Amino acid sequence: MLKGKLVELRPVQRSDISYFLQWFNDPEITQYLLMYLPMTEMGEQKFIEDLGTQQAGTNAFFVIEALEGENRRPIGSLNLHNINPKDHNATFGIAIGDKKYWSKGYGTEAAALIIRYGFEQLNLHRISSAAFSFNERSIKMHLKLGFREEGRQREVVFKNGAYHDEVTFGLLRDEWKKCSK
Ligand SMILES: CC(C)(COP(=O)(O)OP(=O)(O)OC[C@H]1O[C@@H](n2cnc3c(N)ncnc32)[C@H](O)[C@@H]1OP(=O)(O)O)[C@@H](O)C(=O)NCCC(=O)NCCS
Repeated sequence: MLKGKLVELRPVQRSDISYFLQWFNDPEITQYLLMYLPMTEMGEQKFIEDLGTQQAGTNAFFVIEALEGENRRPIGSLNLHNINPKDHNATFGIAIGDKKYWSKGYGTEAAALIIRYGFEQLNLHRISSAAFSFNERSIKMHLKLGFREEGRQREVVFKNGAYHDEVTFGLLRDEWKKCSK
């Protein structure tokens, strides 16, 4: 478990499926993500089973729980995937699925926790990430966490009736050390 002030990150469990179905079938959320097809219960079950089998070791996947006094509730998920043991890098992904928790600092704190885990526990050298150009909140979050913009794939994604750029980011361990002090 990785704990901050606002959130705790915990491993996924079967009972999370109902949350995932709600979050990842909501177009207000999926507009910001690569996924675009309806998410089925069978698909979610397989995803969770895969985390424990062939993908094990390449995807550090956590559920984000909001801490509210004695209570806690799942509000989203995040991961470091494509963990590459040779080059010591991985790709970051995050979604706060409960929209009531957007823009209140939960995403930035959850991301900071998994980034620390990536560098201090997984021995990563670099974390890659990306956000669609219209996702201002995500772009701000990445820059605040120390990610540097590394490029832009022009009109690579079709969302909400138009093509959009994707901004790519990278964070090196040394840069993170400097800005996480
Ligand atoms: C992107 C996401 C993880 C950010 O987490 P969050 O908890 O909502 O955001 P935070 O409160 O931590 O704020 C991050 C930054 O965005 C800014 N921000 C908040 N709301 C904003 C808005 N509506 N427009 C622009 N910037 C905004 C914040 O001010 C903050 O920057 P600052 O501290 O410099 O002011 C979350 O909104 C989310 O999961 N969205 C849906 C899915 C998604 O976009 N995933 C990421 C795909 S790359």
